[in-house]
Amino acid sequence: MIKVNEFFTAELGSDYVAKFIANKINEFQPNETKPFVLGLPTGSSPEGVYRKLIELNNLKKVSFQHVVTFNMDEYCGLSPSDEQSYHHFMHTKFFDHVDIKPENIHILNGLSKNRAEECANYEKMIAKYGPFQIFMGGIGKEGHIAFNESGSSRNSKTREIQLAQSTIEANSRFFNNDISKVPKSALTVGISTILDNSKEVIILAFGTSKADVVSKTINDNIDSKTPSTFLREHPNVTLVVDKSSALLLHKK
Ligand code: GLP
Repeated sequence: MIKVNEFFTAELGSDYVAKFIANKINEFQPNETKPFVLGLPTGSSPEGVYRKLIELNNLKKVSFQHVVTFNMDEYCGLSPSDEQSYHHFMHTKFFDHVDIKPENIHILNGLSKNRAEECANYEKMIAKYGPFQIFMGGIGKEGHIAFNESGSSRNSKTREIQLAQSTIEANSRFFNNDISKVPKSALTVGISTILDNSKEVIILAFGTSKADVVSKTINDNIDSKTPSTFLREHPNVTLVVDKSSALLLHKK
């Protein structure tokens, strides 16, 4: 079941999500032996949430000392220091500014020589720490969650995936609009990895460009053509939208 939580602006939605996550961490009272396990995305959608969480951490309203994180995905072939890698994104936009322990951060290694083994180990680590108390994600225009492109099955696990042309084009904005520079494959957690290991899933979708996929996620048949429709099979998913991304919901 998906609950839609609509805010006037993306900023208000991001503030709400950051405070919600901080409250959940505080209520959970994590410690060394009972960490709070959090799934995290990259992309422009979560940037406001990360900014607010940094602020709350600086104000000592929440601590990440006993929070263990797993990122959703990483490009193949980019080193962690590459400015377009998701490692780099996560460190500069979030991890470097909060009190998280480096050993509690997990991000798939896109440089791994044995990608199948890297993905299998990631699943094992998730099983060891899981379940996720919260998995936060964004959504691609075609309905991808993490890098689970159209065609990804409900049972998919962490694996290497070939990126869809539409994703390569959308993400080229981060590569000087040069499509040839965008990696053609990525490592990603699967749909099952998210839905079968998370107590709660929060998906962020802001702006007019997401209006179509928000409407499809809520109204289309549940099908691997639009992987985000699988979210409806989870008992506790919140889709956080703003006025622009919710536009088509109101027209129905
Ligand atoms: C990328 C990421 C996804 C993200 C999506 C949307 O392809 N792999 O995890 O959700 O883009 O990005 P944005 O939030 O910038 O719209």
